[in-house]
Amino acid sequence: MQTFNTIKLAQQLLFAKVNKAKILVDATAGNGKDSLFLAQNSPIDAIIWSFDVQQTAILNTKELLSKYSLDDKVKLIIDSHENIDQHINGKIDVAMFNLGYLPNAQHQITTQYQSTIAALQKILGSLSIGGVISIIAYSGHQEGYLENKAVQERLRSLPSNIFTVGCWSMINHSNNPPILYIVEKMRGEAYESATPH
Ligand SMILES: C[S@@+](CC[C@H](N)C(=O)[O-])C[C@H]1O[C@@H](n2cnc3c(N)ncnc32)[C@H](O)[C@@H]1O
Repeated sequence: MQTFNTIKLAQQLLFAKVNKAKILVDATAGNGKDSLFLAQNSPIDAIIWSFDVQQTAILNTKELLSKYSLDDKVKLIIDSHENIDQHINGKIDVAMFNLGYLPNAQHQITTQYQSTIAALQKILGSLSIGGVISIIAYSGHQEGYLENKAVQERLRSLPSNIFTVGCWSMINHSNNPPILYIVEKMRGEAYESATPH
């Protein structure tokens, strides 16, 4: 039986976009599973930019990609995703965020709402028409609670004539199950119209 899994669901929803994307971002590389998914399913000439603040995460991602001989396709960046504009020029077609902390590592190194929102804002401003962003948020810990709240507020305020935003969660599960947000840019209005007043 196929069971729902939030991470797999995000990948399935993005699959068709990834197939045609040229510039893709894994905003939280972690153990590299999303980077691998992006590298495996994007065109041969696509470039994936994978960010993480932890050396361990970058090394884990590199190791995973090497196993599949896909490390040439992925640029691994040890930097906060909020500095994305210092690394990428051009329109972003697909971006994935899997927020929170690295599984089996120090929980104090977790994504923070200020830098997550800053990164999200920059990616929204650089998203191609038809481009998509997935965000998986975990509201069960203190930072995650604040982060999910900030992400949801920001996404709710996006103009619906430019962006479509969906949200999915397992509503009968206890212990704050993950929440998946999907953003699609429908039209090419000016960036300023996506900025909150
Ligand atoms: C839940 S893990 C990501 C899992 C990963 N997508 C995978 O497939 O294995 C979250 C990651 O975000 C990283 N992180 C925390 N703050 C960050 C920041 N400001 N910029 C980029 N990565 C950050 C953590 O170091 C951690 O590795």
